[in-house]
This record gives sequence, C-alpha cells and structure tokens, in this order.
Amino acid sequence: MKENKVDLLIGAQWGDEGKGKVVDAMGADVDVFVRYQGGANAGHTVIANGQKVVFHLLPSGMLYPGKLCILGNGLVLDPEQFLNETAELYEKGQDRARLVVSPHAHVVMPYHKVLDRAQEAARGKGRRIGTTGRGIGPCYVDKYARVGLRVEDLLDADLLRERLVPLMEEKNRLLTRLYNEKPIPFDEVYGPAREWGKALAPYVGDVVRLLREAVDEGRHVLLEGAQAVLLDIDHGTYPYVTSSSTSAAGAFTGTGLAPRDLTRVIAVVKAYTTRVGEGPMPTKEPGEIGERLRNAGGEFGATTGRPRRCGWLDMVGLQYSMALNGVDVVALTKLDVLSGMPEVKVCTGYEYNGRRLEGFPASPHILDEVVPIYETLPGWRGDISGCTSFDSLPREARGYVEYIEKGLGVPVKLIGVGQERSQTIDRGL
Ligand code: IMP
Repeated sequence: MKENKVDLLIGAQWGDEGKGKVVDAMGADVDVFVRYQGGANAGHTVIANGQKVVFHLLPSGMLYPGKLCILGNGLVLDPEQFLNETAELYEKGQDRARLVVSPHAHVVMPYHKVLDRAQEAARGKGRRIGTTGRGIGPCYVDKYARVGLRVEDLLDADLLRERLVPLMEEKNRLLTRLYNEKPIPFDEVYGPAREWGKALAPYVGDVVRLLREAVDEGRHVLLEGAQAVLLDIDHGTYPYVTSSSTSAAGAFTGTGLAPRDLTRVIAVVKAYTTRVGEGPMPTKEPGEIGERLRNAGGEFGATTGRPRRCGWLDMVGLQYSMALNGVDVVALTKLDVLSGMPEVKVCTGYEYNGRRLEGFPASPHILDEVVPIYETLPGWRGDISGCTSFDSLPREARGYVEYIEKGLGVPVKLIGVGQERSQTIDRGL
C-alpha cells in the first residue's frame, strides 16, 4: 500500500474565504476532487486564463481536464443545477466521463426550495437566518426525518412515484395550510424528476469503492469543503448556520472515508472577515472601512448577489476554528485587499459586560453583544498583486502574515494576492 495523500480543505470563517481559488491553485497536483456536504448554496468563483467560472454544486476541480471528480453522499444534490453546470462545462470543452455521483446523496426537490423561502418569510425580521433560498435546510430536514429522496430513488420511475405521492401530499398540506402557498401539482415534480433520473443515471457510481481504491493507491485526493466552520450545524453560531457539518468531521460521514485516511487539514482564511446572511459578527465594520473592504474585495454573494458584511480579522473565531478541526496548514487569501490601509486591525479578544471572555462564546446572543478587543498593526502601501514570493512582499504585509501564524500556531503555506490562478504565493503547500 502506498502512502496516503488525502487533503481536506475547509473554510475557517463564515464562508467565502476563496476556497475555490485555493483548490484551483492546488489542482494540477490533485488526482481526485470530492465535494461532500452542502449543496448549491455554495459559490466557488474561480478565474482561470481570464475566464470567470462560478460553481455552486460541482467540485472546483472540474476545471482541470481529465481529473476524477466526485459528489459524495453527504451532499444535497439539486438536479437542475447539476445539469446546468455540467452543460456549461461541456460547452467549454470539458470531458464527461470523469464525474461520479453517490447514489446516497439526497436530492433537493422543488418543494424544498419553495419551503425554504416560505419558512424564511414566516420567520419574520429578527428571526431570519438569511438562507440562500436553495432548499438546503428543508432537504436536510427530510434526510434526518427519513423521508428524503436519494439520487438512487430517481432512477426507478415506479418506485419514485410510490415515494413521491405521499411525500407531496404532505408537502402540499404544509405549503397551503401553514404557509399560505399554492400547492405544487404532482406532475410538475414527477415529470421533471423522471427526466433528472435518466440524465443522472450515467453519473451514478460506487463512490465509497472509488475513493478507497484512490486512497490505497496513494493518489492525491482533495476533499473540498463548502461554507465554513462557523456555519457548522453543530459547532457554528446556531441557529444562524447552514444545515450540514462544515467542519472536518463532515468529510468522513459525507464520503465514506475513514479518519485515518486523512493526511492534512488545510484551512482557508481570508485576510479579513466577511459574513453573508444573518447572525452575529463581532468585527463587522458598518462604516467606511467595511465599505472599502467590500468594494476592494468584491464582497457580494456568488450565489445570491447579496452584499457581505465586512470587517477586521477575528482571531478568536479563528483560534476556535483551528482547535476544532486540527488544522495543519493555513491558506491565506485576499491579502491584496488590505493594501493601502494606513493601519490594519486584528481582533484578539472579546469583552462582554466589562469582562474579557475566554474563547468563543457558545451563545449567539452573547456573540452579538461582545465588544472586540483590537490590536493595531502597520498597514502597507502599493500593489502586491504581482508579488510571487514571500520575500517580495512589503515588510508590513509579511509582519501581518507572521502575526497570524503566531496567533494561530499554524503555518501559512499559501498566500493569495489577486484573483488569478497565478496570483498566489506558494510557500510549500
Ligand atoms: P443555507 O445554507 O442556504 O440554509 O443558509 C444558511 C446560512 O448559511 C445563511 O446565513 C447563508 O448566507 C449562509 N451560507 C450558505 N452558503 C454559504 C456560502 O457558500 N458562503 C457564505 N455563506 C453561506
């Protein structure tokens, strides 16, 4: 048996850290790309050869010709999105035969999306989660209620009808009686679902076996997390979270790989903090600084177009994230966005009711009220987007990176200094 080479890549903050770009930068050396949780709520923007591509569902690795790409059982698959994204890629000349979908992945059905939006509206102001409206929560609810449809259920038309009839009766009762929505006609779901089944069938394969073989043969496997640790259903800022396990543990339930298969955990950290949707964010800067970061960093949701809240780097949240996931290395993204700031602040602690808190508070209400304690570091001038080595960065920018390494106790092995695949400083990732 060869030595394992299984990397797990996760977002360490509230998402949108630029994971897609890091996956893409590592891609040439990877043999198998895997997505294992979340669904089309993700938005991975990758710019390669001047072409911008946004993936919501497919692994970012699909941009690399010939590589095996896998959608694991932990993911919730939106068939329409899947077929649109694959069609777009094939139009761009990518080959088909290398994408495999787990039959055990749950399917996001049209009623999940209607329910997602209706439930958000019913929550009202102050109680909203700010979901992406992609049906993610209601689909996972069905999974755990043991009434969900899996990809394999779409493959058999009779079985599908048998399952769908009572399911839709229940969903329509919910929609009409509780949420005042129109019922969804059975045929409007069953007809397309049969077509999705036919279109998905060639992609369905034994993901567990494929991954086992890949690991045992020593092939380089990259597990691509979506969303991020602070949005984790268990460990995040509940209830302002997504409905899947976004931290490292989710990679095992979501693929069938075993903990001992894992070689490294890579955390992607953005050089500042952003959050989209509702929920507490201690370092948000609602004024000029936030605006500047939003514009310089293009901080608008890749899935929903919503403006993201922006603010300084939060080391308290990051330390929690590092500890929770056993992070081996950090990939730091968007360092260039901070260029030109006269000074750069870093949150090193939280104060609550006049006392400094230990660690990251469990309660979102407390997190919403903490006052960040900042340390101020010198900023740097000039454009760093052409820097290709750590040594060529301005002294202050190097100081910022070293400050983060020291504060987290984890080496920063990759630094993003611009949008392009080539605008990364690789320090041995
Ligand atoms: P859901 O995943 O659509 O249910 O949304 C739940 C929360 O997670 C909302 O605050 C969303 O804005 C957030 N969220 C979901 N996906 C992403 C993502 O890819 N990046 C950042 N936030 C996300």
